[in-house]
Amino acid sequence: MNMQGYKRPIRYGMVGGGHTGFIGHVHRMAAALDRNFTLVAGALSSDPKRAHESAADLGIAQDRSYADFNEMAARESRREDGIEAVVIVTPNDLHAQPIRAFIEAGIHVICDKPLCTTLEEAVNLHRLVSESGRVFVLTHCYTGYPMVRQARQMIADGEIGELRLVHVEYPQGWLATRLEDTGERKSAWRTDPDRSGPGGCVADIGTHAYHMARFVSQLGVDSISAQLTTFVPGRRVDDDVQAKLRFENGARGILWASQVAVGHENGLRFRIYGKSGGLEWIQADPNCLWHTQLDKPKQMLSRAGIGGNCASLRWSRVAAGHPEGYVEAFSTIYSEAAEAVRAWQNGKRPGPDVLHPGIDDGLEGMQFIDTCIRSSANCGEWTGLA
Ligand SMILES: NC(=O)c1ccc[n+]([C@@H]2O[C@H](COP(=O)([O-])OP(=O)(O)OC[C@H]3O[C@@H](n4cnc5c(N)ncnc54)[C@H](O)[C@@H]3O)[C@@H](O)[C@H]2O)c1
Repeated sequence: MNMQGYKRPIRYGMVGGGHTGFIGHVHRMAAALDRNFTLVAGALSSDPKRAHESAADLGIAQDRSYADFNEMAARESRREDGIEAVVIVTPNDLHAQPIRAFIEAGIHVICDKPLCTTLEEAVNLHRLVSESGRVFVLTHCYTGYPMVRQARQMIADGEIGELRLVHVEYPQGWLATRLEDTGERKSAWRTDPDRSGPGGCVADIGTHAYHMARFVSQLGVDSISAQLTTFVPGRRVDDDVQAKLRFENGARGILWASQVAVGHENGLRFRIYGKSGGLEWIQADPNCLWHTQLDKPKQMLSRAGIGGNCASLRWSRVAAGHPEGYVEAFSTIYSEAAEAVRAWQNGKRPGPDVLHPGIDDGLEGMQFIDTCIRSSANCGEWTGLA
């Protein structure tokens, strides 16, 4: 169990995530769960009235509610009790500007995925963040599940042998019709290439699936053959991705992400097979991991149960049999972000078991999107990552 003592919470501000924002609320729950962060400032909406009303409801002092994130970066960096980290939960086209503003103001950044909207921008952000030395966390939240950590460690320990097959999928069905025409905001920006970037489904959830495949297997990807499809007539971005992956060790992979798979909600899952065994995990049943050893019956490992390794036990919060879920997984990323910020403040590097996604993963996600788009435009030609 995670029994580390409580420390002074890190002061953070938020960009986006006001009353109507979807994921901002989840970030606040995740940030609060392990008492590592406290929200003290915000530029919570593009609409100043909504920004200030949301801030008041969240208990943010009036003088620390900002109409503009640039003003927030400038003013907070001058305060003695200013924010130590910022959380960015705006649509994809509004990640790069605040990342730049807060990194340049010396403030650590936690940003939702994808990193930004173009590969060129991603390369520039990667350079800026790397040179700044500040902590940067990208919230590919699903890798915070204890049983995902368990699988990663088992693979690293050779428990299923050298990897041969990595299958990952993330089906959703909520965009099976033109929801964007109904005035629904979250679908409107996600299907507008000016706001989401050139990738639709591939950027929105394909990047989560890709990061999961990379995180658990710990294998690099050499090349991709992808087919992006827009099934819903008139939609301007893809709503289905089917990709084949060639990994650096010769392993082969399949990635399917879809937003038109009717009946699916957030069906993230992986199945990974090595020379001597296999592992299967699905978000719908996140406290279980199925493990098969060659010539032995399949067995179910449960979170905090018998057979749990140090990687999963580290982030298990309650006893086996009491379900943990999405918010806890998200909170693990936050707690690791806190460890990284505190290490930085003490002039140290975080320990090797701090596994939160960072700026390298942000760049990789953008390379994945770009490679899939280029491959698909060439009839699925095998395409190396740029
Ligand atoms: N990690 C995950 O599981 C996950 C899940 C959903 C969304 N996301 C990502 O989170 C981001 C936000 O997605 P969402 O679904 O919450 O979108 P949303 O449309 O529900 O919310 C976006 C928020 O940004 C605010 N905003 C827009 N322009 C702003 C500006 N100039 N200044 C301040 N605030 C501004 C809006 O007012 C709103 O509160 C996206 O990048 C998305 O890809 C991640």
